[in-house]
Amino acid sequence: MTEKRNDRREEELLRSLLEDERVRKMKNYTQHGSVSTYDHCRKVAEVSCGINRKLHLHADPETLVQGAVLHDYFLYDWHEKDGGSHDWHGFIHAERARKNAQQQFHVKEEVQHVIRCHMWPLNITRVPRSREAWIVCLSDKWVSMCETLLKR
Ligand SMILES: [Fe+2]
Ligand SMILES: [Fe+2]
Repeated sequence: MTEKRNDRREEELLRSLLEDERVRKMKNYTQHGSVSTYDHCRKVAEVSCGINRKLHLHADPETLVQGAVLHDYFLYDWHEKDGGSHDWHGFIHAERARKNAQQQFHVKEEVQHVIRCHMWPLNITRVPRSREAWIVCLSDKWVSMCETLLKR
């Protein structure tokens, strides 16, 4: 019963976040191939919710959905040279995304942890320490690999 309620809560949270103008700004930036950062984050959120549901992991709906949707909320095009400031994108964007999410949405510490750790093991010291952080970290790897291989 609780599980069903959490599934519905996840769906509602996801729908309202994806409609939010601040989140839709990510449509302006390219992630992989022809996939926008918005579509990438939406996919990561869908896969994360799917894994949580199928494996009965009982993740906290708000932490999982906000963490997944905002994990790449860095708001710039990392393909642009921009004077070399994006050269270290892989290493720095998680912190930028966390900061933006905190400023724009006042997300709680658990959500910030999900965002901060999603680039593990590249960011070797930022190890996921919650089930929500693990789910998003692994979903992001899977979705990124599919996007890169398919080059949509
Ligand atoms: Fe990322
Ligand atoms: Fe990502």
